[in-house]
Amino acid sequence: RPRVLSGIQPTADSFHFGNYLGALRQWVDLQQDHQPFFFIADLHAITVEQDPKVLRERTLRAAAQLLAMGIDPARSAIFVQSQVPEHAQLGWILNCLTGFGEARRMTQFKDKSAKQGEGAASVGLFTYPILQAADILLYRPHFVPVGEDQRQHLELTRDLAQRFNSRYKKTFRLPEPYILKATAKIGDLQVPTAKMSKSASSPNGIIELLDDPKVSAKKIRSAVTDSGTEIRYDVEEKPGISNLLTIYSALSGEPVPVLEEQYAGKGYGALKGDLADLVVTFVTPFRDKTLELLDDQAYLTAVLQKGAETAGGVAEATLRDVYQRVGFVAPA
Ligand code: TYM
Repeated sequence: RPRVLSGIQPTADSFHFGNYLGALRQWVDLQQDHQPFFFIADLHAITVEQDPKVLRERTLRAAAQLLAMGIDPARSAIFVQSQVPEHAQLGWILNCLTGFGEARRMTQFKDKSAKQGEGAASVGLFTYPILQAADILLYRPHFVPVGEDQRQHLELTRDLAQRFNSRYKKTFRLPEPYILKATAKIGDLQVPTAKMSKSASSPNGIIELLDDPKVSAKKIRSAVTDSGTEIRYDVEEKPGISNLLTIYSALSGEPVPVLEEQYAGKGYGALKGDLADLVVTFVTPFRDKTLELLDDQAYLTAVLQKGAETAGGVAEATLRDVYQRVGFVAPA
């Protein structure tokens, strides 16, 4: 079975609809006929300052959410990045293969460091995509299910894999991004041309999976649209309506053209009201399940430990090859 790997940062109390529709839903689906590795990227999280207590809580909340949405520990290795030390170890070697200028071109670094002022950004934030390449390459996956914002990091990953393979010996598989066009970039509800984002969106622009469902319904009903009346998918002219149609279609399984027909002649209020109901129906059981899982931390940490053992076995074997090829002396 082809391997898949992906990760998510534990940097918020809840995942949001961008995470879910852009990536996590594909994680759940791909479990069926792939060999999956899914992890919580706590090493990446500390590239910006985190409160230790909050980070630990959010990591467990992330695990609970992944299980609640259907990641099955019997099928998937689900683990915490810091529990598999090979990520950081391979990250170092890839740092040494990456050009400074090459790392500088990463647009996420440019955006995030511009916000803090470049001098204040950590070196970890700069090498963030290189650690991400290590995360991926260690498992030699075929596919990496992510949203559009990760595409550039995957290109760097492929470049580094290629470079290592040609400098030393073929070691890494060149992974393919698995990005579903329809949901690759879920928009902010208030600024629909921008992506829904835990760091950039205002609270009203983002639907959190663990929010009170009533709050989420209200956010949908107050989403920014346009001064027209027609319900039509048109990203240029109607980014707000198009974003709502995208979310509606993804949650209901109805193709966008079917929805356009269904809402022909109806007002924006009707679309928003129905979508709000759909969101409530989705998040209510999800939230209950997550809160239930969070009550049993011993279970969560045991699942994560088992995941780290499975992942660690694969990661260790890859790193051993890498060390040997780079020219490190093996311990006796
Ligand atoms: P993160 O934690 O920011 O986001 C997790 C996943 O959610 C996707 N996503 C979106 N998709 C569509 N529309 C949106 N508005 C939206 N917002 C977020 C992201 O594309 C991502 O797939 N660098 C990664 C974490 C990571 C990783 C890895 C991923 C670390 N190592 C190795 C894959 C493989 C990140 O920050 O994702």
